[in-house]
Amino acid sequence: MDISPSDYNSFREILEQQSGILLGDSKQYLVASRLSNFIKENNLTSLSDLLSKINRPSGKLLLQKVIDQMTTNETLWFRDSHPFEYMKRHLIPEMRKQGRFRIWCAACSSGQEPYSLAMLLDEISASATAEIIATDLSSKILQKAKLAEYQEIELKRGLPDDKLRRHFKKIDDNRWQLNQALRNSVRFQQLNLLGVPYTNGRFDVIFCRNVLIYFSQENKTRVLNGLIDSLRPGGYLFLGASESLTRDCKPLQMVRCSPGLVYRKN
Ligand SMILES: C[S@@+](CC[C@H](N)C(=O)[O-])C[C@H]1O[C@@H](n2cnc3c(N)ncnc32)[C@H](O)[C@@H]1O
Repeated sequence: MDISPSDYNSFREILEQQSGILLGDSKQYLVASRLSNFIKENNLTSLSDLLSKINRPSGKLLLQKVIDQMTTNETLWFRDSHPFEYMKRHLIPEMRKQGRFRIWCAACSSGQEPYSLAMLLDEISASATAEIIATDLSSKILQKAKLAEYQEIELKRGLPDDKLRRHFKKIDDNRWQLNQALRNSVRFQQLNLLGVPYTNGRFDVIFCRNVLIYFSQENKTRVLNGLIDSLRPGGYLFLGASESLTRDCKPLQMVRCSPGLVYRKN
């Protein structure tokens, strides 16, 4: 698919405005690989045609589908392991002493992160004391997360065999579904991290991992400050392994949970 410089610039502007996802100067190949088939399937002729349709008042649904195509949903079970270890050993025991607690997985993709937490809570009999809210911008990936059906190849990415046997039911040769109780223990909701009025101090723990890497410094700061506002005093924020707070973020205390770290709100 050929993309003219002006169409590319218009497209990246819309994408950043709507999702925060920032495309570099020469990512035309990425746009082409994610949208070529999509353009054909939607009876469009070119990126230029797509742009004119999403700019119309009737183009909202098409725009959401384009965003679904452009998000990177790479995820795995118990990703980086240390946040889950730290939750299990320190935070859950500490929080359950104080009564009910609330965890928010912002940018949850196809559900592996919130369901890893749900399994952890279940295994230490803490499900009844916790609420897990999982959100993502992509409506398509949220449908998959709610269904909680995964292929073997996805299950092999970080899910130990004993957890597969304990928490999943085999549907056919290649697919398994998470059991109903764990599916029901996570509440999914569509939410754009850039477009929400952040609430004050509702959450005990927030996981916001591997999404801010796609944002500009300015949007990163905006989202991080919103997340910090959403934590109760004493609450914890987990970021991705390659992510950190920006210079202009509200202050948080850094707690080492070797090999990684977590941020605590004072
Ligand atoms: C790479 S996945 C990370 C999933 C999971 N947190 C993990 O670390 O394994 C990034 C997710 O961020 C979501 N995302 C991108 N922009 C977003 C935004 N503005 N608001 C909410 N979610 C967004 C994408 O749809 C995608 O599912």
